Amino acid sequence: MAAQSIQDRFVAAHAALAAVAQEHVLASFAALSDAQKAELLDQIDNVDWPEVARLVKSHVLAKPHFALPANVAPAPWYANVPPADQAGKYQQARKAGEELVRAGKVAAFTVAGGQGTRLGWNGPKGTFPATPVRNLSLFQSMGEYLLNAARRWGKPVPWYVMTSPANHQATTDYFTQNDFLGLGKENVKLFPQAMMPAIDMKTGKVLLESPASIALSPNGHGGSLKALYASGAIAEMKKRGIEQISYTQVDNPIVRIIDPLFLGLHALDRCEMSSKMLPKAYPKEKLGNFCLIDGRMTVIEYSDLPDELAEQRLPNGDLRFRAGSIAIHAIRVDFVESLNTRPGGFALPFHRAEKKVPHIDIVTKQPVEPKSNNAVKLETFVFDALPLCERSIIYETDRLDEFAPIKNADQEGVAPIDTPNTSKARQTLRAAGWLEKAGVKVARNAKGEPDAVIEISQLTAIYAEDLKKAKLPAKIDAGAKVVL
Ligand code: UTP
Repeated sequence: MAAQSIQDRFVAAHAALAAVAQEHVLASFAALSDAQKAELLDQIDNVDWPEVARLVKSHVLAKPHFALPANVAPAPWYANVPPADQAGKYQQARKAGEELVRAGKVAAFTVAGGQGTRLGWNGPKGTFPATPVRNLSLFQSMGEYLLNAARRWGKPVPWYVMTSPANHQATTDYFTQNDFLGLGKENVKLFPQAMMPAIDMKTGKVLLESPASIALSPNGHGGSLKALYASGAIAEMKKRGIEQISYTQVDNPIVRIIDPLFLGLHALDRCEMSSKMLPKAYPKEKLGNFCLIDGRMTVIEYSDLPDELAEQRLPNGDLRFRAGSIAIHAIRVDFVESLNTRPGGFALPFHRAEKKVPHIDIVTKQPVEPKSNNAVKLETFVFDALPLCERSIIYETDRLDEFAPIKNADQEGVAPIDTPNTSKARQTLRAAGWLEKAGVKVARNAKGEPDAVIEISQLTAIYAEDLKKAKLPAKIDAGAKVVL
């Protein structure tokens, strides 16, 4: 078949855009070079324009209204430490999870396609220096975890990393230049997710980044469930005999990328997609709430849970809606496949995010740097696949052991929340606790905080008990900087 000429492609693209009143995207077409024309047409071909038109109506020109279902109840979970009557089940689950990893049936999956706008790092977020002493990048820290996993369970764990077209090349270059972090090129697979146009909040028109390109952004971590399939990653996993995907985010340097106990509970209970939770520290902590609606697992965003429910307490004083989502999931490979091969496909709901998006003025073609939110970005969230499951469990993890996210930049005069500094402090705190458990005396200040900076390599330990086998100092003095 002869390749379509640029002119034919232009005519088809123009018709698709005109049908949804977005033909301004092609306003400068005649003035572009051939290469720019081809790139813009590629961008246009990759957008689902009828879907954009629907979303402009429902999510841009109007704000979607969240209606809380009448029968929302808190979801149950497996406790971090098993009650006596479940100790046997946990033992069995840990063993089952380890067997899955040993048999090569588990893949690690990191979503790293986000723009990291709040952090403001010039590069893929995974390349951000994250550890307290060595300043290892997020990817390096995770790479050490996977090296430890391969040594411990006797089999390399394949690592799938979702990028976006905006950071795919830079991420690929990073892994190539760093020799795939010692994991073996064949065990690291990078693939990009799809993008969505940013849309002017007032006019509903798609924004242009330049006369030759649309202002596109990644379509949310929910896009991973389609990208895994569309990229061929699912087909490849099946060929390798992989049955379970261990899903984590790129921004948490101490996340347990592979956790046999969690994977085992999920597998023994024959779940399609399961989650880890943290008990919320306070009622409106910015974590999604795990709920049951008509018996289906559902995450209700913190902003959508009415205060009255968020603040409800049980007789023992615990929050009634206590289980907060920290974006850690176990997902069956065949579940992702079945979603993508359903007749008519599947759609996760889009969420509206108001953002400042630089663009060019459609009429004057001059660049505009907005001072306040001017655009709507449309994203899907992976947890919205939970209600599509027949079976799903939650396992409670320990905040100190597994949660040190890096979301925001440290800024003078702004109380730090989930910044590089808070993450490093938590990594030190976890290290100090683990060392004390192993009998090491760690200097602490008057507030009880460790008075040293301590980094435990994930090659040395991914569980506190691992330190029993490690060569450790008798004490860590005030002011010390230590790597173990
Ligand atoms: P966040 O929601 O924290 O977004 O992503 P972000 O893009 O990293 O940062 P901001 O909001 O622009 O400051 C949580 C996780 O989901 C991934 C991110 O890379 C991160 O690991 N993500 C997010 C994607 O992979 N794709 C997306 O489209 C959005």
